[in-house]
Amino acid sequence: MTEKLLQEFSTPFYLYDEEIIKNKISFLNSLDFKFDFKFHFAVKANPNLAILNLVKRHNFGAEVVSAGELFKSLKAGFDPMNIIFDGPGKTEFDLKYAITQQIRSINVENLEEIAFINEYSLSKGLVTNIGIRINPDIDAKTLDKITTGKSGGKFGVSIDQIDFDSIANFKGVKLTTLSEHIGSQIVDHIQLISSYQKLVSLADKINSSLKTIQTLDFGGGFGVMDHSDKKLNFQDWQNELNELLKAKSYNILFEPGRYIVADSGELYTKVLYVKTSGNKRIIITDCSFSEYLRPALYDINPPIEVLNNSNDLDTYDIAGGICESTDFLAKDVSLPKIKQGDFIKLLNVGAYGSSMSSTYNSRPRPLEILKNKEEYRVIRSRDTLEDLCKNEIM
Ligand SMILES: Cc1ncc(COP(=O)(O)O)c(C=O)c1O
Repeated sequence: MTEKLLQEFSTPFYLYDEEIIKNKISFLNSLDFKFDFKFHFAVKANPNLAILNLVKRHNFGAEVVSAGELFKSLKAGFDPMNIIFDGPGKTEFDLKYAITQQIRSINVENLEEIAFINEYSLSKGLVTNIGIRINPDIDAKTLDKITTGKSGGKFGVSIDQIDFDSIANFKGVKLTTLSEHIGSQIVDHIQLISSYQKLVSLADKINSSLKTIQTLDFGGGFGVMDHSDKKLNFQDWQNELNELLKAKSYNILFEPGRYIVADSGELYTKVLYVKTSGNKRIIITDCSFSEYLRPALYDINPPIEVLNNSNDLDTYDIAGGICESTDFLAKDVSLPKIKQGDFIKLLNVGAYGSSMSSTYNSRPRPLEILKNKEEYRVIRSRDTLEDLCKNEIM
């Protein structure tokens, strides 16, 4: 299929494998949990409508962080009651849209959001279900730039700042949920369980008087490593979760993003030039950080496959054509000898790949293709040059 795709489509393009996504979903849905649970796909990982519709058809809900993600999720067919809205910087527009759609829960991360949701809901004759994202002050032991559960960060609210009694007096909101998300790429299940423990204890304490918390939203973060082969031990994680929630009656939500789609995605790119600079061999491809930002953002190398028959190895930096020295896709990687015109693919880029792409340097955002066994279809066409001018006024 690779040859056919490369003949039919110009690079760069993303290719996703539906089978891999379905396997990830089935695995999570088949876990032997002894409590009520639902998985909500973190839309930010890959918001393509075809991917959203695929996960929706497999009994997943959606987790969104903007009006745009909410709009796309509704368009992809999610029931509003299967959508939760997180995010540390929701605008009034975001909140009004989420309130009028009457989604499952708006998880606030700033206490001021509650008064606004209350007033706007009352003005519309509605009562809105809310959650509070707690900052549990737990180190996810992952990359520093993707840790979100430590005190001192911008995410969530510290427990000691919340006055649950006064929230209970608001007539336009109903506090049903406590949520958290301590980071991404987590492979140490102990850190996850410790953060869940904090939420369970807090919910038990609140319910001893107010009896309002029905749902605990444990976030996502299940590790799929592209810089090591460490993995989350799901068996231990599941067993400890069952133990933690024994004799409890909370509905449990999870918000995995990367785990569902990362491994399904490949990014195909063509080698434009091979050059030597000092003691470095540098490959310039037709893919840049505009199409795939994570290596530049996090200093990580994705797994790379070179589509040629060379047996000799060389060490390369792989860069794009953007006028920024941070525009690298990988550094110091040992690969089969590469020549101009070769094709390269980046692996495990189905999450936070296309969704983080931009049109910087006025580059069209890339094509996306979804394959299912021997069949494939375009699920996002490449931006045209005219698209790059859309919404601009001369
Ligand atoms: C609140 C929240 N939930 C879930 C996720 C998904 O994380 P992951 O893709 O690592 O599973 C994120 C990622 O940033 C998030 O911020």
